[in-house]
Amino acid sequence: MRNFLSLADVTDLDALIQSGLSAKANPFADEQLGHHKTIGLLFFNSSLRTRLSTEKAARNLGLNVMTLNVGSDSWGLEMEDGVLMNGDKAEHVREAAAVMGRYCNMLAIRAFAGLTDRELDYKELVMNQFAKYAGVPIVNLESATRHPLQSLADCITIEEARTKSTIMPARPKVVLTWLPHFKPLPQAVANSFAEWINARAAAGHVEFVVTHPEGYELAPQFVGNARVYHDQDEAFAGADFIYGKNWSSYTQYGQVLTQDPSWAVTMDKMRLTNQGKMMHCLPVRRNLKIADEVLDSPQSLVIEQAANREWSAQAVLKEILSSLR
Ligand code: CP
Repeated sequence: MRNFLSLADVTDLDALIQSGLSAKANPFADEQLGHHKTIGLLFFNSSLRTRLSTEKAARNLGLNVMTLNVGSDSWGLEMEDGVLMNGDKAEHVREAAAVMGRYCNMLAIRAFAGLTDRELDYKELVMNQFAKYAGVPIVNLESATRHPLQSLADCITIEEARTKSTIMPARPKVVLTWLPHFKPLPQAVANSFAEWINARAAAGHVEFVVTHPEGYELAPQFVGNARVYHDQDEAFAGADFIYGKNWSSYTQYGQVLTQDPSWAVTMDKMRLTNQGKMMHCLPVRRNLKIADEVLDSPQSLVIEQAANREWSAQAVLKEILSSLR
């Protein structure tokens, strides 16, 4: 693996999931792999899980870790080529990426969608500019349209829960549901989850359903072959996993079209499922999106899911390190 920007960079998803589970069972088996190598973590946006889990995974592999909050710790970066830099961005990505690529053997980057210009967000300028100019592998820590390390952790979590369960079918029903929120949030987590779970569905591992109010359709390339419902109760019927997430509209780009509280997940909704497990990438606003009674119940997987971020990062960093040797 050269870069990890999306599912397209993964050659064997089953093997990557198993690699994550192996890392969880034996975190220090590859602690020599990163010896005398350095990863740079660049954050254009806030993070709790991604920052800590990726730092931890890198250290488990023996990597030296440097973390930079771009714009507050460092200069603001201009991403567009050929512009007159007379604004608030003091440095161009061409120099910044090239210089960081000299200090680091790989760079991992978080840069969210702006949510004002769909074409700009969906062309993934930040990731692509770093991939072009850094000269070292790039790892996506959540970009404008995707969050693949989260999606890998989600696949690991589903596989783990499916294996442990005595009541789930061999091919569990996984439902991605839109949740209400007052702020416009990116589509990245939902897009990425759909992309990865569609791949799991295509390989016969799961059945995949998406549910959201009208106007919240995801981009067609992410919906893929998922069955889409506008009736959340119908979608929840018999589900084994409920994956909750808010996203702003893709078609009316970046807008909040409704905050309908009836889309929040309550225990009454969970009773429609097959004793389904509740997943969310976190952070989650309690009782706005998911009720306390669900988050605090044994049906919630959110803490295990966040814990698995360490193992998804470790599986990916291990594969990139192996390709550097
Ligand atoms: N799920 C996730 O990416 O969490 P953070 O935004 O805290 O990193």
